[in-house]
Amino acid sequence: MPSLAIVGAQWGDEGKGKIVDFLAGKAKTIARFNGGANAGHTVVVNRKTYKLHLLPSGAIRKNATLILGNGMVLDPEILISEIKLLKKENPTVKIYISDKAHVVMPYHKLLDVGKEKRLKAAKIGTTARGIGPTYMDKARRSEALRVYDLVNGNLQDKLEFILKNKNHELSDFGTKVGNGDLGQLFNDLVMAGKFLKPYVCDTSAMINELLDAGSLLIFEGAQGTLLDIDHGTFPYVTASNATVGGVCTGLGISPKRIDEIIGVFKAYTTRVGEGPFPTELLDKTGNRIREGGKEYGTTTGRPRRCGWLDLPIVPYSARINGFTQLAITKLDVLTGIEKIKVCIGYKKGKVNGQLFTPNIDELVKLKPVYKEFDGWESFPSRAQIRRGGKRALPKNSRKYLKFIEDYLSVPIKIISYGPDRKDTISS
Ligand code: IMP
Repeated sequence: MPSLAIVGAQWGDEGKGKIVDFLAGKAKTIARFNGGANAGHTVVVNRKTYKLHLLPSGAIRKNATLILGNGMVLDPEILISEIKLLKKENPTVKIYISDKAHVVMPYHKLLDVGKEKRLKAAKIGTTARGIGPTYMDKARRSEALRVYDLVNGNLQDKLEFILKNKNHELSDFGTKVGNGDLGQLFNDLVMAGKFLKPYVCDTSAMINELLDAGSLLIFEGAQGTLLDIDHGTFPYVTASNATVGGVCTGLGISPKRIDEIIGVFKAYTTRVGEGPFPTELLDKTGNRIREGGKEYGTTTGRPRRCGWLDLPIVPYSARINGFTQLAITKLDVLTGIEKIKVCIGYKKGKVNGQLFTPNIDELVKLKPVYKEFDGWESFPSRAQIRRGGKRALPKNSRKYLKFIEDYLSVPIKIISYGPDRKDTISS
């Protein structure tokens, strides 16, 4: 297992953080390739909960090496507070940040909020973390700031040029950068640059050297396939490539260097923000899943929309990502639901078909076709599962898993049944 990519197969929040943390017991180097503080990973170790937005998920493992790749967008304030916290909790951790990653500035957050407000009903439902505007500046190039600029003291001229343009853009929303206090903004950035400088390097060179030396690496994705800017349910997507292609561009490695690609999906479906969601449950079962699965955004606290497992999404994601294995999470959350449904295809007019489409005009027209399963009343304890493995799981949950595995024809190698890293079965 020299290198593994971990990718979300649904609309994000699949529990990738938990799976990365579990696998980080073997591979101590974890490199994140996309997104920013829009993501949130919750990792529970020995009943202590850690919520991280920027640092990769194996962060709490002893001697972990964490790499933040060039495909990420980094908010210095959040990054610095996470580094400080982690250094306290895990003094053995090593952190490396790409000099090519882009910097999320306060005006990106103002623009994110302003644009969403103006869109009214057509809004995307972003996390308001400035992600879209930062990637827009990356594509626009002349108004972008990279980590290199922050740590190499060439900030003043660049910032003056950028701010003139940004103030022009912000005047549309009746506001200004830093409320006009540019001195404060400049000082904050200089201080951030000084703090971050020891962590900054050419992470692509580093990752390639580690792979050459035969080290085990995990490439960690944020969000999920259906939030990918190219392959997701556009425009209700994030601004980066959350699919496996993002590993190569976001870390600076060849596709040939990825050995295994694990698709992570939940035993049901959730999404946050706007956009079509064919299996959404707006009833008490949806509420029950939300409360049982603690389905509230780690970043924004927003209640997640919940629904039955929409199975055709997974082969769609597998087509884009080429999953070599799957991990299912939150199986325990379905405990106590008398009849569990799984969407196995869609009715379009009079025609039944299996194919999922990310095209939202088509997606809104799809009516799910369900298969119903008998539920299970209780779930075994961790000790029982440790003793009996998969066989200790309730019979009906095994039927549910078997059906999913047969439908997908990709092996489910990891089953997660609770937030703690110990609540995991792997084969
Ligand atoms: P943005 O990434 O903040 O621009 O948000 C764009 C869309 O992606 C919105 O629907 C967000 O709710 C969604 N989104 C962004 N990050 C995550 C995540 O980590 N989990 C789930 N949804 C996310």
